[in-house]
Amino acid sequence: MKKIAVFTSGGDSPGMNACIRAVVRTAIYHNIEVVGIMHGYDGMINDEFISLDAKSVANIINRGGTILKTARSKEFFTVEGRKKAAANLQKHKIDGVVVIGGDGSFKGALQFSAECPIPFVGCPGTIDNDLIGTDFTIGYDTAINTVVEAVDKIRDTAESHDRLFFVEVMGRDAGLIALRAGIGVGAEAILMPETKTDLEDLIKRLESGRKNKSSKIILVAEGDDAGGAFVIAEQVKKRLPFYDTRVTILGHIQRGGNPTAMERVNASRMGFAAVEALMKGEKNVMIGIVDKQISYTPFENAVKHIQELNPDLMRMVNILSL
Ligand code: F6P
Repeated sequence: MKKIAVFTSGGDSPGMNACIRAVVRTAIYHNIEVVGIMHGYDGMINDEFISLDAKSVANIINRGGTILKTARSKEFFTVEGRKKAAANLQKHKIDGVVVIGGDGSFKGALQFSAECPIPFVGCPGTIDNDLIGTDFTIGYDTAINTVVEAVDKIRDTAESHDRLFFVEVMGRDAGLIALRAGIGVGAEAILMPETKTDLEDLIKRLESGRKNKSSKIILVAEGDDAGGAFVIAEQVKKRLPFYDTRVTILGHIQRGGNPTAMERVNASRMGFAAVEALMKGEKNVMIGIVDKQISYTPFENAVKHIQELNPDLMRMVNILSL
């Protein structure tokens, strides 16, 4: 390995900068030249390569977002786009690539590997935590802390007015933000895409649990099959008109903010491990942290969707939310 490239792809997530910094500094330590590719796969296609040195990543470990910018590239999913990307990697004499991204980014890398021999190693960067082969993706811890902080505030006002709040959180395909943040805020119910939402059951529980607490918070993952927080709130209001209901969509605040300490440490470890994996000849693997240890998971396994949520956690959620 004489020269490697690093880029971020898909939705940004807090901790991506810490990971970029680790990749750059580890490469420099091993006398490997390192370049950044701006705007994800689009930048690879449009030849947006920039050289990086130790100074270019100074004071970014604490910053959310990504200094390399990011994009969800449509062009990379065309043969023509991938041809241009491969030609640019060859033009810049790139021997290996670190891609920091999620599901779509690794699927892209996998498809590319059939056409371009340059090895790719991935670091899991997504707030959704929906990749197999790591306990925590880069961004997840910060996102759930953001949700917890916001919902704590909503709880204050909900409690003062005896209100029922439906709070919608991110997670188009995965409910892991809703699940963990929901446990953290003591939500009365958590609705997620992985489980079939039974509105009748929710209404029954809200009816019988009415006297237990004056405020109620229902966390709804955006991909939940019942149609989103507004739709669910409307249905509940129709059946239980005595509830004073409100809806809050937390939206993109969940993707920003300074990464937590845990995020910075995990992202640094993964970026460091990604460069060493390329040096060892690894390709098409995602770096993860499982039980505190660095692990490698082939891209094709990492992107298989998590369908089953931890049954122990699910059981606990039901008991504690009563
Ligand atoms: O993939 C991460 C994610 O945050 C999802 O949870 C969410 O549905 C999506 O990105 C929204 O992304 P964007 O607004 O960038 O299209």
